[in-house]
Amino acid sequence: MSSDKLVLSAYGSHNGAVAMYYKGQYWVVEAERWLNSKNIGISNYMPCRNYQLVFDEITEWLLSQTDKSHVDVYMTGYLPHIKPKFRYNEMVGVDHHSAHAACTFYQSPYKEALIFTFDGGGDAGYFNVYTADRTGGIKLIDKFNQDLGFPYMILSDYLADIKKESLSIGNLVYAGKLMGLCSYGTVHDEWLPFFLDFYEKFNYMGNSYIGGAEARHEAIKTLMTQIGVENFDFEDTRLEGQLAWDIAATTQRAFEEFFFKFARKYLDQYPDMPVCLAGGCALNVLLNTRLAKERNGKVFIPPNTSDCGIAAGQLLHYQAPEHQVDLTYSGLPIMDANQLGYYLEDRQYATIENVGFEDLATYIHQGFIVGFIQGNSEHGSRALGNRSIICNPGIKEMKDILNEKVKHREWYRPFAPLVKLEHVDKYFDFYGDDCRHMTFVADVKEEWREKMPAITHQDNTGRLQTVTRWQNEAIYDLLTEFEKVSDHGVLLNTSFNDNGKPILTRYSDALNLLRNTKLDAVYVHERKLMIFKNGDERKFKKSLEVGGLSDVSLDTTVNVLVFPKDDAELNDSFIPTLKKLVDKTERITIVTSVHDGKILSNVFAGNKNVRFHLIPSTLHYQNTLIHGKTKTGFEQYDRDSTYFFSLFIRPFWVKEVMRDNVFNTKYHLFIDLSYMEEGYNYNITRDIKVLSDFAKDDGDAVGITGVKGFKSTVFDAAFLNKNERWKAVVDSDIAPWPYIFYGNVETIEWFSNHFEAMLLWWLTQDRVGKLEDYIFMSYAESQHHYKFLELEKVDDNEA
Ligand SMILES: [Fe+2]
Repeated sequence: MSSDKLVLSAYGSHNGAVAMYYKGQYWVVEAERWLNSKNIGISNYMPCRNYQLVFDEITEWLLSQTDKSHVDVYMTGYLPHIKPKFRYNEMVGVDHHSAHAACTFYQSPYKEALIFTFDGGGDAGYFNVYTADRTGGIKLIDKFNQDLGFPYMILSDYLADIKKESLSIGNLVYAGKLMGLCSYGTVHDEWLPFFLDFYEKFNYMGNSYIGGAEARHEAIKTLMTQIGVENFDFEDTRLEGQLAWDIAATTQRAFEEFFFKFARKYLDQYPDMPVCLAGGCALNVLLNTRLAKERNGKVFIPPNTSDCGIAAGQLLHYQAPEHQVDLTYSGLPIMDANQLGYYLEDRQYATIENVGFEDLATYIHQGFIVGFIQGNSEHGSRALGNRSIICNPGIKEMKDILNEKVKHREWYRPFAPLVKLEHVDKYFDFYGDDCRHMTFVADVKEEWREKMPAITHQDNTGRLQTVTRWQNEAIYDLLTEFEKVSDHGVLLNTSFNDNGKPILTRYSDALNLLRNTKLDAVYVHERKLMIFKNGDERKFKKSLEVGGLSDVSLDTTVNVLVFPKDDAELNDSFIPTLKKLVDKTERITIVTSVHDGKILSNVFAGNKNVRFHLIPSTLHYQNTLIHGKTKTGFEQYDRDSTYFFSLFIRPFWVKEVMRDNVFNTKYHLFIDLSYMEEGYNYNITRDIKVLSDFAKDDGDAVGITGVKGFKSTVFDAAFLNKNERWKAVVDSDIAPWPYIFYGNVETIEWFSNHFEAMLLWWLTQDRVGKLEDYIFMSYAESQHHYKFLELEKVDDNEA
């Protein structure tokens, strides 16, 4: 075809879209992105309200991208009642399944292929088989009128874990949710014949055609009775727990068996031919992976395999391009780019400019969740790095935070790993050649499962996306930087949208998500711009100071306050213990004086897991307070100077931590862990649970302990592995203080100020005869303002 011929192709049913080709470039506008309404059609099946207006808007925008005002070739499917405003020279039609077939084949790298298209039905059937080659085009070789889509998705209607929808919506969202759930279940072989029989009934041309709701209900009811579900009710039955999950697993198996029942003959007939799949059913990554294993990886599924790809498929069918076409990022640009400056005038946001990937990777590595925006949007239902939420899969809580507090999805739904193609074998057993479109699963290698919990699904798989630099330069480069600060090169990638919404197309939606969810920042790649909720930019800056650390696992992160009496104690006692602690932890922060920090930084030079937080002001405070304000003077406390020193270093330190938020914590909890040493026989597990419960909603916990606690066995690997979200800080050998207190930045700072004020007051009154007096008074004054917990002693027997 002539390279300057403008072809415009529109599809109007659910997942409606308009695709355009002109002078070597492709554009695809999906109606859902234009209207921010998921899966919407233009003029058919869930149509938009004023479809003529929407059609005109989209086609006007498309033509405005070119230097032409008329269309050479106009193609449509399912677009009744639409009258184009543009002129066109020629009108061409393609049937639904031929469009699916062209959509997958011409985007594939293959010169020839065996193609299966299967879905919930279109104007050319349900399950078609084609062969194709680049010169001869696409040929239909068989068709089966078996619907695999409807019987698969409809069972979601009865499973309690899946949010109930109307069937028009459920038809398009149920199947993916069911697929995520089935890994919790077990296939019941004894049920399988009933499921196969159930699927068989959705043969739309044979004797068992199920024409109406009543017949469908009868089929479902029969199945439920056969597998032992009693009193099944179409409206009210919501099956829970293992039974529901086993149904999901068994229907998945039946779905796969049916695919192979039809496909087997052709897979055997063309054993060496690569396979292309398309149609909504090709979103089933479990089937795709099974097929890929069987075909030595030579299986291709396009990014737009559902009906969102029909408009593009029609166009490709007409063009029959000689070489592979890449539509992965042919979607819309950000549509309100000009208004970003206006949005950011809102004081709810803060921005930092010129943020490079090195800093972004460090920030992500620390556990922050970033919405990443670049270039044109993905075409198809998967976000592949241009409108993605990206974070570190090594953070244990990440899956729950994303599901509950960012994406608002069902608890069981998995998140996808994103990895460089050349590194895929390090982390995964992957059976395909390439998986840039997230259309297969891979088995997470055993040694990485616990290290990347947020992308490891219940069945130890991940719905993988591989990337090369050619495919997505920015994402590839971000991975390169991430590898430098992390012990793994895998990012978690999920679509940048809220539940029930399509992948976003506007900054306004991105900022809404930033404002209303646990999303930490938005990164606009072309502008190197980071956008935060006002105040959160401080965490970003802090994350860079901390940077270059290995994986942050809160289980094995320890913050240690080190104030030895003298160099001898530092060398003889602290350093050997610190070395052991460093071996056992993934990250350690040593809070100490400048003097000791110099010694320790030589000891741990080059260990990127160790960082220092130095407090230069401590001696100054010590001298002022002791020499300047008291008659007793420093000497009197010389013998116990460390003892005394630690008492006031603590509140100062606490305040510094609070003010600078060095640990990026929002919610803090302090405990004197010296009470947890051996000999006190406290029930450590119980106490840690109390502490974790306090901290769990709103951030991390920070603990303080005395040297006894520090030296004791409680900080061994077993302790660290047992406890979640735990950080401990060690100070010197103070008297046990059997209370913990907790609070946010403001209340802790108030407490710290109070603590200092009390100390100063008693010092100026020369009444600090006994340190215990001071502690007691300080505590007595404070308890009106704070909730203190007394850690009860428990009997040896009970412990
Ligand atoms: Fe379809």
